[in-house]
Amino acid sequence: MTRPAPLAAGISAAAAAGRRAPVLHAEALQLRFGAVAALRDVSLSVAENEIHAIIGPNGAGKSSLLNCLSGFYRPQSGRVYFDGEDITQLRPHRRAAAGLGRTFQGIQTYPSMTARENILTGFHNRMRTGVFGALVWWGRVRAEEEAFTAKAEEIIEFLELEELRHAVVGDLSYGLRKRVDLGRAMALEPRILIMDEPMAGMNPEEKGDLARFILDIRDANRIPVVLVEHDMEVVMDISDTVTVLDFGEVIAVGTPREVRENEAVIAAYLGTE
Ligand SMILES: Nc1ncnc2c1ncn2[C@@H]1O[C@H](COP(=O)(O)OP(=O)(O)OP(=O)(O)O)[C@@H](O)[C@H]1O
Ligand SMILES: [Mg+2]
Repeated sequence: MTRPAPLAAGISAAAAAGRRAPVLHAEALQLRFGAVAALRDVSLSVAENEIHAIIGPNGAGKSSLLNCLSGFYRPQSGRVYFDGEDITQLRPHRRAAAGLGRTFQGIQTYPSMTARENILTGFHNRMRTGVFGALVWWGRVRAEEEAFTAKAEEIIEFLELEELRHAVVGDLSYGLRKRVDLGRAMALEPRILIMDEPMAGMNPEEKGDLARFILDIRDANRIPVVLVEHDMEVVMDISDTVTVLDFGEVIAVGTPREVRENEAVIAAYLGTE
């Protein structure tokens, strides 16, 4: 066993590249579902303040990777470090409480609640209990409403949702519902924000708005953002670093320009080798 300890390897690689230790670091993740290898020896380092996109064809393992980062999937081997702590064994709600905020593929808002009420549910960081637990918790929110409401109002202003704070979310457009969902994730005051295809199903104007909010959140809160995104124009516009997955493997990591010119990436997207 001459292999160095995973964290040491990650940190020394970052140090060698002249960077600080990563905020989030996954090392050699292996994840299988029966015969399917969803992740094969996948490592990922997310630096302070960066926007890090994960791209790749359908089924490449992007959501699986996010799920390993946030604890919804447990890899068969490999480790995940957050702010230098090994969080591999932590359950999702503990990771959320530690500051790992995330949004999911599709819509996760409560349609019969208002925009502000949805954002208020984000202060509940024990995601393990699901809808029922959130509703029980909701009773407590009402008791403590004033303190939370002030914070929720800050988020509402930040996301330019003032006109819609009392609108029932089920009546809003898809783009606005995703914005409310982002507000819910922000309520955690996350140390890092992880988003799975936040722009899927949005029109170009909605995508532009969300891209601006993602950049604003990074700048205002000084946190990194990890996002899975299919829209290459958006990825090229807002990302500092891009990791490309194909069939469960990392085939390239670099700046948007480096990745766009990478032969393996071009081949993966053309479906040829
Ligand atoms: N819970 C699961 N049970 C069984 N197989 C799964 C599960 N989650 C993912 N997989 C499989 O793992 C592989 C990677 O899936 P994943 O959802 O991570 O891909 P993706 O890159 O997010 O794709 P998409 O772009 O379609 O969202 C696929 O073959 C998928 O069928
Ligand atoms: Mg996915």
